[in-house]
Amino acid sequence: MPLGGVKIVGVGHFAPANVVSNQDLEQWLDTTDEWITTRTGMKRRHWADPGESTGDLAFAAANAALDDAGVSAVDIDCFIVCTVTPDYYFPATACLVAARLGAREKPAFDVSIACSGFLYGLTVASSLIRSGVYQRVMLIGAETLSKILNKEDRATAILFGDGAGAVILEASEENSFLSSELGSDASKPELLYVHSSGSRHPIDRTALDEKLNLIHMQGREVFKTAVIKMIDATGTALEKAGLTKHDVTLLIPHQANKRIIDAAAHYLEMPSGKVVSNIDEYGNTSAASIPIALSETVRAGRIHPGDVIVFVAFGGGLSWGAVAWRWAA
Ligand code: ACO
Repeated sequence: MPLGGVKIVGVGHFAPANVVSNQDLEQWLDTTDEWITTRTGMKRRHWADPGESTGDLAFAAANAALDDAGVSAVDIDCFIVCTVTPDYYFPATACLVAARLGAREKPAFDVSIACSGFLYGLTVASSLIRSGVYQRVMLIGAETLSKILNKEDRATAILFGDGAGAVILEASEENSFLSSELGSDASKPELLYVHSSGSRHPIDRTALDEKLNLIHMQGREVFKTAVIKMIDATGTALEKAGLTKHDVTLLIPHQANKRIIDAAAHYLEMPSGKVVSNIDEYGNTSAASIPIALSETVRAGRIHPGDVIVFVAFGGGLSWGAVAWRWAA
């Protein structure tokens, strides 16, 4: 059976109202605005309030995407939430969001692969639609990384923020999904992980005392691999799509570090005007970063029918992904 087409018909995003600036972090961490800005490009990040969950942010972003698409939640066939900070172990955050939107009894599941999550989700959602299983899928990237952050650790506390972005994908005669290149390598999971909380090391008193239930990262090592894998994945995704880097109109990378984004842009020979970066405002929001950036870019009128967009991400796993996407009318 020939594959059908898929396109994005609605976008939305949401971030918590609570903004934490670099100057705020200076108040309790041995760091400076100057260090954070030059090493990461970050100026602010949004951190959820104690009562605000990933599901809350996902719900707000989903509503914005429904408004943008002009469709109702009951018209969505399947809900996917990409997150490593779910509301609960189970039920899946996607189930909670679907129910809260009034779309009960619809299939809903989470995708858990850290910062690469949205591109894994985009590949799965597009495949579900192109193969004819569903007509319309809500795909959300949502995180409250501040909840698993050691706020006393200057190496990680400065990096992460909270937010959510949502897209609605729909079956179409045009096809936006050009290719996908995904990968993972967990030979050194400890480079970036939460040691304690799962079944390998359930949380106990020692874990809490040693803050093993929070994010640990060996930043320098992750940085080096991130640059290599993001460039490789981009090249392979373009090759699979029969395109070259000169065909790319816009690069929307995961927002982990301005220097990583600049390296990917340099490889693609893309001027800064064609590279989307909002890292100064949000920091690293993991699976939420690409859909937030996409939603902002669409709403700013920066994307036009026919544009070729490359989405590229890298994160915990280690894992990575790139998707080539032609924007449809
Ligand atoms: N303020 C001031 N100094 C600091 C800070 C800080 N906030 N953090 C670290 N330093 C110090 C270090 O202690 C070190 O000091 P030393 O030289 O005396 O030992 C020095 O700054 C340099 O530290 P590095 O870790 O080498 O700094 P680097 O330039 O590598 O930047 C960073 C660190 C920003 C974390 C970078 O390595 C990075 O972005 N890594 C990749 C992150 C990433 O892509 N993660 C993947 C996605 S996340 C996910 O999947 C959930």
